[in-house]
Amino acid sequence: MKTRYDDAFFDTPTERRGTDSSKWSEYPPDVIPLWIADMDFRVAEEITEAVVRRAQQGIFGYTRISEGTIEAMIGWHRERYGWEIPREWVVPLPGIVPGLHLFCRMLRRVRPERSDVLINLPVYHHFRTAAAMQNARERIVRLNPFGVPTLPDLEGTDARGLGGWMLCNPQNPLGHRWRPEELRRMLDFAAEHDLLLASDEIHGGIVADAPHRYTPLMTVARDETERRRLVVLVSPSKTFNIPGLECAFAVIPDPELRERFMSSYRQMIPGVTAFGWVGAEAAYRWGEAWRLGMLAYLRGNRALTEAFAARHGLPMCPMEATYLAFVDCTGLLPALRGETPKAFFLRHGVAVHDGALFGAPGWIRINIATRRALLAEAFGRMDAALASVGR
Ligand SMILES: Cc1ncc(COP(=O)(O)O)c(C=O)c1O
Repeated sequence: MKTRYDDAFFDTPTERRGTDSSKWSEYPPDVIPLWIADMDFRVAEEITEAVVRRAQQGIFGYTRISEGTIEAMIGWHRERYGWEIPREWVVPLPGIVPGLHLFCRMLRRVRPERSDVLINLPVYHHFRTAAAMQNARERIVRLNPFGVPTLPDLEGTDARGLGGWMLCNPQNPLGHRWRPEELRRMLDFAAEHDLLLASDEIHGGIVADAPHRYTPLMTVARDETERRRLVVLVSPSKTFNIPGLECAFAVIPDPELRERFMSSYRQMIPGVTAFGWVGAEAAYRWGEAWRLGMLAYLRGNRALTEAFAARHGLPMCPMEATYLAFVDCTGLLPALRGETPKAFFLRHGVAVHDGALFGAPGWIRINIATRRALLAEAFGRMDAALASVGR
């Protein structure tokens, strides 16, 4: 019988302790971990079956990514977003983070005099580490976290030395689903100042409120000239909960940039493993029923999270995309007497991410992709913690 990906499926407890899970191994066993971005749900059965089938072959020699996986990735984006990706644009990668590093390395090679990169903050911390480690100087664009996280007026930006811009589409954290007109503004700015754009679209498949969906940056580009500025990074890992399998793709229309991008990593970082591409193909081909069930379940978890934030008067970003709630706890700081909100909640049995890591001290990021009963228990602990300081 086919599995139904309904609330009962996502409510089913999974045991991740003792499995070397990053999320569940970091803190003492009595702490509820709501930090690193993976989900506590079992994946679609077809993914597990495909990986098991592959393992049963019992041969683990070198492989190259199958054309079937690339076809499945292209087909998934075509069907959902009307984005037609020519095969030759696709560069398989073992992860998105290596892609961010490779973008910065490429920038320094093609524009040695202009390798500064704009980064929209707050953002996933590896944007900044990639720039720093690859010697691309960061320039921060501070986003307003509420309502529309408006880009500041870019008019006054001193573009000297500037060669690139790294976007997170949708934005992690903030959960903002960038609108076509906002992406358009970024493309216009890039054209005006001749910038190369990297767009990390790893959270693209996690937009909970149909008919809304994410807009691939590439689909907003008007013509060949605009497309040739872009390096778009996509991956099934967040959407289908397979980050441990490690499979991602860079989509690079410009042949010269593509060659530069690839030549800076050949031999240096490994290819996608067999389990990575086998799992990715199954996810793109067969994961849709699971994905829709997961999004419906997340809507319930989001409501629980919004209720928690509201009862304590903590501002929370509108969560349009991702499963990462971003909550402003700066108002708590006087009551916490020097302790960070993250340390405070950890002392009360819940591990969240510190907003400081993403460029927003005093905020917390809560991963809500877990069983609802466990999430409710975590909020119960956080309620008690807040009550202890009169909130
Ligand atoms: C925006 C963003 N990019 C990249 C990653 C990690 O990607 P990968 O594991 O493929 O390197 C994450 C993980 O949380 C993320 O949120």
